[in-house]
This record gives sequence, structure tokens and C-alpha cells, in this order.
Amino acid sequence: MRAYDIIAKKRDGGELSREEIEYLIQGFTQGQVPDYQMSAMAMAIFIRGMNARETADLTMAMVHSGETVDLSPIHGIKVDKHSTGGVGDTTTLVLAPLVAAAGAPVAKMSGRGLGHTGGTLDKFEAIPGFRVELTKEQFIHNVNTVKAAVVGQTGNLAPADKKLYALRDVTATVNCIPLIASSIMSKKLAAGADAIVLDVKTGSGAFMKTLDDSFSLARAMVDIGTHVGRHTVAIITDMGQPLGYAIGNALEVREAIDTLQGKGPQDLEQLCLTLGAHMLLLAKVADNWEEGCNKLKELIADGSALEKFKEIVRAQGGDPTVIDRPDYLPGAAHQIEVKAQTAGFVQAIEAETLGVAATILGAGRETKESVVDPAVGIVVRKKTSDRVEAGEVLAVIHANDLEKATAVRQKVQQAYTIGSNQPPKPPLIFGEVSKAGIRRY
Ligand code: URA
Ligand code: CA
Repeated sequence: MRAYDIIAKKRDGGELSREEIEYLIQGFTQGQVPDYQMSAMAMAIFIRGMNARETADLTMAMVHSGETVDLSPIHGIKVDKHSTGGVGDTTTLVLAPLVAAAGAPVAKMSGRGLGHTGGTLDKFEAIPGFRVELTKEQFIHNVNTVKAAVVGQTGNLAPADKKLYALRDVTATVNCIPLIASSIMSKKLAAGADAIVLDVKTGSGAFMKTLDDSFSLARAMVDIGTHVGRHTVAIITDMGQPLGYAIGNALEVREAIDTLQGKGPQDLEQLCLTLGAHMLLLAKVADNWEEGCNKLKELIADGSALEKFKEIVRAQGGDPTVIDRPDYLPGAAHQIEVKAQTAGFVQAIEAETLGVAATILGAGRETKESVVDPAVGIVVRKKTSDRVEAGEVLAVIHANDLEKATAVRQKVQQAYTIGSNQPPKPPLIFGEVSKAGIRRY
């Protein structure tokens, strides 16, 4: 077999065999297939596409390019939740304790934030003392005893994906559904999930800006899961504006605490209940979605979900008193209000612009080496369709550096479009994709 012939086959619209895909990915991982050939291959795939079988084979070839995590010592069905990335997406902070409180094991491996989206690890680390570096034994022990643990990715998972992503990033081949789907699923499968709930974000703050593309990406990922025998469900959800109110690490921990007490933002609560109920369903802890949803509501109402959050924090070296006293969380020195210049209704909020603004303040990373400031971020007060008066506060900037605050002030202002007619509240959930097919709500 020669890489040249495989590239030419895909260039001409051919369908690659499993052997051809494995040959290419193995060779690329080991350095025998050079970057320029793999880049040409990525472009051929970008232009010609891949069918579901090829995409599943590419995914598994990337899974087998490195280590895989064996979660079998953990009791129960391990359901992983993955979001394609959003702004102020506080769901994992809420879902880990909530789903664990219902009895389903949550063995969460998360990443750090890069670019305009925050990372779940950075959020948990805003809790004083919280450690995300656990040994494999500690991780498994914590999930078996507390039912949840959140750690950074360890080991050499899907190295072919990492190498390929670096090439895609500089060859204009990132935005390609089979490549994105195989990239995301290879990491989830290597991390040992038995079943996967995908939160596919759509809209201005998301990777996929249109609903059709979001459904296509969801379909491609569900097809991969189905092909390799892992139950996978994708929910398509709005990222046309930030989720909840808070964007920024400690600010989102506070928002998660509110949500676990039933006093969080309505959209965040609704999304957590929806995703959480699907997780319980796949974990076989609930027989149907309604039952799962009701169970989760009870766990919020009776305080069990919040109690579980304390247990998780304690088990990972964090200070659980911040859960009762969120004012002990890191706070920013300055709070600067951004006010509406005219009266009207919020037409739209550019989530990506707010994400970039939060990153500039220090809530996220501009490069891998950037150090995150847990205290800073943005709290939006007005969301799409809300009425505002002239001079009313749209959002509050939490900053430790006044210069940076001044720099983002205009961005925050510009992220809001105010107009005279009231637009309808945008829907939060657009549909779901499972092996049974696509359901648009
Ligand atoms: N996220 C990933 O992990 N991979 C992609 O290709 C795109 C987004
Ligand atoms: Ca939020």
C-alpha cells in the first residue's frame, strides 16, 4: 500500500477501505506518512467527504493510535457527556453532581479552555484546593465511592487526532463534518465511555453556526457511536447567546451552586435536566426520559444534588464550605457595569464576542501557556427578547485589571443589539439525534 494511491483515490471521490484508513493513520502516527501527505489527505476528505463506515473506521484508527482508558473497574454503565463547546456553558459543573446523586457513575475527563470557550477543568479549579490530577486508582476509587470524579486527560489518548488537528488548523480543513465527528468521538471512545450524550451547540457562539450543519454533525457522531456499539444520543441546543448568565470560572461555579439549589437561570436548568435525563436513560438508572427528569428535579428540591457537589469537592481536596458560602470563592477587584444606550428589546447577543471578552479579562487562554484568573468574567443581566430601558445594566464586567476592563467594555456593548420590536425568546433545544433517527422539535 502507498499513501500516494490512497490520497489519489479519495481525491477522485473513491471510498477508502478500513485497511487503507488504518494504514494511513498508523503510518502518520509513527511518522512514516509525512505531514504533507496527511495534509493533502485532509483536504481530499474535506472536498470529497466520507461515508458513515469510512468515518467510523477513521475514528477507530485514531482511537487505536494511542492508549485507551479501561473504566471496567467502575461499577455501572459509564455515560459521558460532551459539549461541542460554547460560551458560559456551565452544564458539567451541574451535571456531574446531579447525575451522580441519581446513582449513575460520572467518570469525567475534561479539558482546559482555549480560545473563546471555557474549559471545565478551569471551572472546577476555581474552587479553592480542588485537584484535577488524580492517579488512575484514585479516580476509579472516587467514582466508585462518591459516584463522580473530574480529572484532566491523562495518558496518550488518540495521538493521531492531536497530530491531525494541528495540520487541519493550518490547512483550512478544520470545518469538515467527518473530520470533526471522528476527532471528537475518537477522544470520547479512547476515554472509555460505554455510552455518550452529545450536546451539539448551534448558533453564533458555536462551532456550527447553522441548524442544518449542527444536525449533520450530530448525525455523523451518532452514526460513529452506533457503528462501534456505543449507545450515543445527540441533543442540538442553542448557543446563539451565552448559557445562563455567568461567563468565567468562579462566576460559573456560583451559577452551578444556584442551579443545584433550584435557583439558577432557567435555560441552564432546563438544559441540565434534558441532558441529565438522557444520561440516566443510557445508564439504565431511569426507564424513560420523563422519569429521569422527575428524579433529577427531586434531587435538586431535596438538597441531595448540592450535597453531592460538596462530596465531590471534598473527595478532590477542595474546600466544601464554599458551596454554602460562595462569597469565599475568588472574587474580582472591580465590577464595571455596561449600560444600554437606548431603550428597547434585546434582539441578539453575540456569544462569541462575549467569550472573547471574557478571555481577554483572563477567564480563558489565548495560548496554551496563558494563566487563567479564576475570579474574572462577565455576568449578563439581559438576554435575547428582554426589555431594557436606556441606562439599564446589560452586563457586569468582573475584572482584576482596569486596563483590560476598559478594553473589553466596548466589545460587551457591541455584543448586544437593541431594537424596538420584541423578538420571540429563542428556543433552547432544537431536536435530538439517536440511532432511531433525527427528531426536530
Ligand atoms: N473539537 C474537536 O475535538 N475536534 C474538532 O475537529 C473540532 C472540535
Ligand atoms: Ca453560564
